[in-house]
Amino acid sequence: MNAGAASLRDVAAVLAAARALGVDRLDAQLLLAHRLGRARSWVLAHPEAPLADADADALLADLRRRADGVPLAYLTGEKAFHRLVLRVTPAVLVPRPDTETLVDWALELLAGPLAARPAPAVIDLGTGSGAIALAVAQGCPHARVHALDCSAEALAVARANGERLGLAVRWWRGDWWRALPEDAPRFDLALANPPYVAAGDPHLAALRHEPRGALVPPGTSGLEAIAAIVAGAPARLASGGWLLVEHGHDQGDAVARLLADAGLRAIGQRRDLGGQLRCTAGRGPP
Ligand SMILES: C[S@@+](CC[C@H](N)C(=O)[O-])C[C@H]1O[C@@H](n2cnc3c(N)ncnc32)[C@H](O)[C@@H]1O
Repeated sequence: MNAGAASLRDVAAVLAAARALGVDRLDAQLLLAHRLGRARSWVLAHPEAPLADADADALLADLRRRADGVPLAYLTGEKAFHRLVLRVTPAVLVPRPDTETLVDWALELLAGPLAARPAPAVIDLGTGSGAIALAVAQGCPHARVHALDCSAEALAVARANGERLGLAVRWWRGDWWRALPEDAPRFDLALANPPYVAAGDPHLAALRHEPRGALVPPGTSGLEAIAAIVAGAPARLASGGWLLVEHGHDQGDAVARLLADAGLRAIGQRRDLGGQLRCTAGRGPP
């Protein structure tokens, strides 16, 4: 595709350039809407709308980056998750719809078996953009929500999302449970979407623009981060508290074994919207 920005005179030309670059039409419409500060419906209705040179330059650059596999969310700087719109940067994983399964399950537990606890303590381990912590804080305003991550850059994104959305979360930096101070509360609910892609997984090529530390744990099995979180959970859970972990579609048996070996009980699993086994949960002793 040799189109220069100068040839992108109007909306229709941008959509034609996107097609030539192999960029999805919806993505191109969303990039146009974002850049022009318009709704997507406006873009659809105004193919003849002229573009300023600066907008044409920026759009061509964005289309080229999108064609190279950069996630749309990094180009627009935002991603819808649960009932929130989060700001995202390349310092954080782009929150996935699959992870809403874990949030929905957490909110069900808070409204059900944990409803009698007046101010339940919740922790999100490996918070990234803050997606899980903030969605739980929004869905259960009486919860005391904590979140941790080893990445200072990710925590800055999460903290800014919390401030912008007016949602109160206590943020901690460090390595899994070790990030928390000695006097941290025992948690009624611990939630984690940790890195769980094995180092040699061929799918990593398509994820190359996202932080490797958010995708791949140290080691080779893909289960190392989950194992560390599960091993530390019994000492950090309140009596009868729950641990919910997101994992790969083929890791359900292994994760259920890890939870059972750590002494958790009432082990259950849930599928994501695509029908893949995605979350495993267990409950600490009473
Ligand atoms: C798969 S991302 C999940 C991000 C977010 N929770 C979500 O669902 O979109 C995993 C997160 O775990 C963090 N992480 C990786 N290793 C960690 C460790 N040892 N201790 C704490 N956080 C870690 C990464 O920085 C990343 O933000």
